[in-house]
Amino acid sequence: MLFDTHAHYNDEQFDEDRDAVLLSMNENNVGLIMNPATKVSELNEVIAICEKYPFVYGAAGLHPEEVHTADERTLDAIREAAQHPKIKAIGEIGLDYYWVKDNKEVQKYWLGVQVDLARELKLPVIIHDRDAHADTLAVLREHRVWECGGVFHCYSGSAEMLPEILDWGMYIGFGGALTFKKAHKPAAAAAAVPMERLVIETDSPYMAPVPMRGRRNSSLYVHYVAQKLAEIKGISEAETERITFENGKKLYGI
Ligand code: NI
Repeated sequence: MLFDTHAHYNDEQFDEDRDAVLLSMNENNVGLIMNPATKVSELNEVIAICEKYPFVYGAAGLHPEEVHTADERTLDAIREAAQHPKIKAIGEIGLDYYWVKDNKEVQKYWLGVQVDLARELKLPVIIHDRDAHADTLAVLREHRVWECGGVFHCYSGSAEMLPEILDWGMYIGFGGALTFKKAHKPAAAAAAVPMERLVIETDSPYMAPVPMRGRRNSSLYVHYVAQKLAEIKGISEAETERITFENGKKLYGI
């Protein structure tokens, strides 16, 4: 069975066929899915999906591209949602300087306070880091991320950044980008991560892997990521599937 450790089924791209897609998971060898929220207004829908499907778990958090939606109730709303038994992480949170560059201090503030919340609640964090590697590491260091642990999702950093992140006890997630033809950097990073710290994901509905690139992504395609990872690691697909499934369960305490 495969564990898609990052997918967004509350996205409107699933409005037409959300139930049909999710109902087809188990017969297609997808055993577990983690569905993180990106803003407070999504929390109810994420929880509703988790309650409907026993194999879907959720995370509560404010994504760096959504910090403009924050107000004085945001942190309490995330804390309250995190009390739900199927909310297993604080995420997704992080820094994104690719899309938005003019609010770096606001993004850093929200990353820091949410890592503090994760430590308080003893939940792992789901980290989104796009074009912000040095600042992401600095905030995580300052807020002692090793006390809660978590995952760097859709890892886009270098192999050189890995020792410190691994030293913090964190997991490294790879998705569709690993399968892209010019993906030398993610492949080199995946090769450098020990097998016991690797998880796989889709980031559905975005980032569909080769040969589905350009289509709407779903967890039904996570096996393409497993296949590529097996090739990089020189082990069988079955072994890759088994180990990443167990890693995902340990990461999220499932
Ligand atoms: Ni995401």
